[in-house]
Amino acid sequence: MQPKVDLSAGLCENCHGDTSHGAVIKEWDEYSSPGFEMGAMLSHSEPTDVAEPFVPDSGKSCVSCKSTDGAVPNLAAPEIYDLNEDALPEPAAVKEWRITCTACHNPHTTALRVEDGIQLCANCHNGREAKAEGAPTEYFYPNWEMYSSSDFATGVHPVELTCTDCHMAQSPVDSSANGPASPDHTFNFDPVLLSDPETENECYACHEKNLASLVAERQENISGELQALGQLEVNAGEALETANGTEAYPKLEKAYNNALFHMAYVENDGSLGIHNMDKATIHLETARGLLEYVTEAAGATGEKPTEGPEGPASEEVPDFGAAIAFAGLLGALFLRKMKTRPGK
Ligand code: HEC
Ligand code: HEC
Ligand code: HEC
Ligand code: HEC
Ligand code: HEC
Repeated sequence: MQPKVDLSAGLCENCHGDTSHGAVIKEWDEYSSPGFEMGAMLSHSEPTDVAEPFVPDSGKSCVSCKSTDGAVPNLAAPEIYDLNEDALPEPAAVKEWRITCTACHNPHTTALRVEDGIQLCANCHNGREAKAEGAPTEYFYPNWEMYSSSDFATGVHPVELTCTDCHMAQSPVDSSANGPASPDHTFNFDPVLLSDPETENECYACHEKNLASLVAERQENISGELQALGQLEVNAGEALETANGTEAYPKLEKAYNNALFHMAYVENDGSLGIHNMDKATIHLETARGLLEYVTEAAGATGEKPTEGPEGPASEEVPDFGAAIAFAGLLGALFLRKMKTRPGK
């Protein structure tokens, strides 16, 4: 049953605005801050029907994570890939397209709808098990798929870290009315606050002041590779066009689409590899292999359009399994290099 009261953040604002214990609303409401630029996945306070206008016309599955009206029934039975579609409202019935306080907190008790600091977030932040299938990539945000096999989740990192450990840093205790909310409700990763010894965040014990540079250094590897792949993508796209109409084209087009899928996997996750360095590296190596293959094979078709079925046209498209095995090797080498790097 849908509540009859409204689900907006205004419900909590009287007391949790910037005149009470911590400016929770102000932090949550990045959308109203000066200079906020509209774009998908930018803030819980951003109205998704405005940022992504196709959402109100799409099915119930979008409602579950893109609106508070849908979040309430969806989080009532939190299975990550099960959207409880029967219980969801139709898009036309949705009144609150932002992810407000009541999406996560029960308004009567203020308790979290899902106690677990992974499952609460991953219910919405998952990529719906998207796979490379040769077709153009639909939008997806694989935060859960990245995180769930990462060192942070599997216990390789010296302490297990949840989504909220990293995205909702505790602030130093500040009893003044306008102090920052603790835990952080911007949901941004804040390496400075996380490694501040005045806080109760666990990172300081091991990362001292270096968390920001550690993260930036890791992210640079990934963003550098993404940039390089951008150029390869252009080359492959041009080469593909020259193969248009040849027998090889459908196969090459699939390989090209798959390359874009593997790039999107890393880009759309939004952490630039931090959620899972190994997996991000494998996806990017796979994308590189596919783009190089398309450029080479399509280029060859373009030069020799009459080449028979024994030529490059019949060459096997490297499939995901083979590419993963190949990239896995590189990933392992890459990892070994990181692990032997002195210091942190
Ligand atoms: C009438 C004022 C008022 C309203 C409205 C209100 N709160 Fe609170 N809330 C408080 C006060 C006072 C506390 C206790 C603060 C303390 O103990 O330091 C509190 C505490 C909390 C806590 C912490 C509970 C704990 O166990 O420490 C949460 C979470 C919370 N509120 C969320 C909400 C949400 C979500 C809403 C809107 C649905 C809301 N509040 C609306 C006044 C209010
Ligand atoms: C009910 C669904 C839902 C839940 C639950 C949810 N999110 Fe989100 N989250 C979204 C949507 C939708 C957006 C993007 C909104 C937009 O820009 O259209 C988003 C955006 C974000 C962003 C990017 C923008 C920012 O504010 O920095 C982060 C990070 C994020 N969420 C983290 C979390 C974490 C951590 C949790 C768990 C505590 C969580 N989310 C729980 C739906 C959800
Ligand atoms: C995306 C989910 C999400 C949304 C939206 C959200 N919260 Fe929270 N909130 C949490 C989580 C998770 C925690 C506990 C984090 C922790 O302790 O690690 C929390 C903690 C709190 C606390 C502190 C509780 C304590 O024990 O000290 C208050 C107060 C609070 N939220 C109020 C609000 C208000 C008011 C809003 C709306 C402006 C809001 N929250 C929106 C997930 C959310
Ligand atoms: C008990 C010690 C310890 C604690 C506590 C700890 N870490 Fe770590 N962390 C490590 C070690 C050791 C590494 C590996 C360092 C390296 O690779 O250079 C690491 C690596 C990392 C990495 C890089 C992982 C990668 O894939 O490259 C990140 C990001 C990170 N930690 C974040 C955090 C955050 C955020 C916290 C607090 C919420 C935290 N850590 C708490 C010890 C710790
Ligand atoms: C080890 C710490 C860590 C953990 C654990 C973690 N994240 Fe992140 N996350 C990050 C970092 C770092 C970024 C990149 C932020 C940046 O560059 O500003 C990020 C980015 C994101 C973004 C994209 C934000 C944007 O602005 O595009 C979302 C959404 C997100 N994380 C959600 C999650 C969810 C959901 C979980 C749990 C399933 C999770 N994260 C677990 C550190 C973490």
